[in-house]
Amino acid sequence: MNRVLVTRPIPEAGLAVLFPAAAVEISPRPLSQEEVLAKAEGCEAILCQLTDRIGAAVFDLPLLRVVATMSVGTDHLDLAAARARGIAVTNTPGCLTEATAELAWALILATARRLPEAERFLRAGRFRGWDPLLMQGQAVTGKRLGILGAGRIGQEVGRMARGFRMEVLYAARGAKPEFERECGARLAGADEIARTCDVVTVHTPLTPETRHLVDAAFLAKMKPTAILVNTSRGPVVDEAALVDALRQKRVFAAGLDVFEEEPAVHPGLLELENVVLLPHIASATFETRNRMAAMAAENVVAVLAGRPPISPVLPSV
Ligand code: DGY
Repeated sequence: MNRVLVTRPIPEAGLAVLFPAAAVEISPRPLSQEEVLAKAEGCEAILCQLTDRIGAAVFDLPLLRVVATMSVGTDHLDLAAARARGIAVTNTPGCLTEATAELAWALILATARRLPEAERFLRAGRFRGWDPLLMQGQAVTGKRLGILGAGRIGQEVGRMARGFRMEVLYAARGAKPEFERECGARLAGADEIARTCDVVTVHTPLTPETRHLVDAAFLAKMKPTAILVNTSRGPVVDEAALVDALRQKRVFAAGLDVFEEEPAVHPGLLELENVVLLPHIASATFETRNRMAAMAAENVVAVLAGRPPISPVLPSV
């Protein structure tokens, strides 16, 4: 029977797919790269998470045939090493689109309307009754939304913006005519998005080109009333530059679900009121996490059975 290493506990839906097809070892806790290497010795497959660093040494394991990550992001995997050794890599695109877009919207509204700050105020016993000057925030309806990276998730955020009658600008490698028809969206450069949008939301994968896409220069162009939201990967935003901009109120607020040195959070962010910080939970709905686990497991089972994976990251392998 084929052996599969599952690098930490996953939802039942994934295990239900794996158990009939392979001998499965589930690590009860997150593993270091060295531990993955040791435990995956003799395994044909690894089902991993975005918190696992899977480098060339793991892809060198002699029996390994597939690494299935339970995430859409693949920046934690050495894809060049996988390609060179002919090892299949799969991810879970599509099944977390709505959940992530919903969370981006939760962050947009929470930052614009200062929800966590207002709740902290109330819980601290400071609410003395309705006040015409209390906790004023930014309106969202009818404003301009800028989407950096209009893949599945970015486009879904744009679709949801129709409910708020927003004008939608997007930055992407090429035009998305279908998306433009559906949402009246317009392709724009990062510069125009920075200068003119009221809400900027980040949905690019992390690549060498997108690292610090939102840097000090980008933030300096933003309106002082604007909001920045990041639900993609932390290093797309220069966190130190963001802390400066927030501290000096050069941007109104930021909503972050991801961080540059996750799980560490820049200490400057923790001191600020005008930022909403979440522990990377964009895909964390019961429905979505079940679908992600099942999809990752189905990819493993397909490859071990000699069938093509459902969602290959490297179609040529
Ligand atoms: C992913 O799948 O890459 C997300 O970050 C998980 O929520």
